[in-house]
Amino acid sequence: MNRRYRKTIIAGNWKMNKSPSEARELIDALKPLIAKAKWCEVVLCVPFVDIAIAQRLLKDSRITVGAQNMHHEPSGAYTGEVSAAMLKDIGVKYVILGHSERRAYCGETDALVNKKALLALQTGLRPIVCVGESLEQRDQELTLDVITLQVKAALAGVPVEKLRQVVFAYEPIWAIGTGRTATAEQAAEVGTSIRATIRKLYGARAARSVTIQYGGSMNPGNAVELLAQLDVDGGLIGGAALKAADFAAIIQAANQ
Ligand code: 13P
Repeated sequence: MNRRYRKTIIAGNWKMNKSPSEARELIDALKPLIAKAKWCEVVLCVPFVDIAIAQRLLKDSRITVGAQNMHHEPSGAYTGEVSAAMLKDIGVKYVILGHSERRAYCGETDALVNKKALLALQTGLRPIVCVGESLEQRDQELTLDVITLQVKAALAGVPVEKLRQVVFAYEPIWAIGTGRTATAEQAAEVGTSIRATIRKLYGARAARSVTIQYGGSMNPGNAVELLAQLDVDGGLIGGAALKAADFAAIIQAANQ
């Protein structure tokens, strides 16, 4: 983390978990545990149907509510989809884009993620853009090449004045939901490489303002070490975000 130049952001990605009534239980349990978190921004990226209740319950707290996806077109005949403007209208601030699960199961490509990122920024939402390599790519030592391509593609056409609104989440696919975490060195290496790519595109000043998270089996046991890395400015947390005590402990790690 480097709190001088950029925000530390701890975001929970609930994925397809928690109905509105279960969301209420989790948020009620979480709120008292994180009342004192001062140094980082906390975001809950909940299913669309939970957004309203989460916002209501978190109205008087420092926790922000985010979404997990949006459509790449502004509006129109896209049955079942949710637009950036709709999210903005209900007060959503962050939206996860290009999560590896959506890339794998919904065929999202780098070009599509770029389209979504541009639309999110234009609409006034902050995209959390996920990038990450497969185990095969890591074994073939292609990690940094793959991530560089994903970062460049996501940022195509993003003007420098909007760059600060973009958050990157480095999520190695092999570490997601597997209990197998990247080592702090691996997370730091990729974080630093992402920032170097941004620096080449936008210059040093702009690059140092971008928050780069790590995601993939982050938990209370490994959060302190991961977050101690210079280019690990927060976490995108799946499983551990569904347990109030674990998520609160990760937030505490970011506040040390
Ligand atoms: P886990 O923390 O469950 O590994 O999930 C990480 C993730 O995919 C967050 O977006």
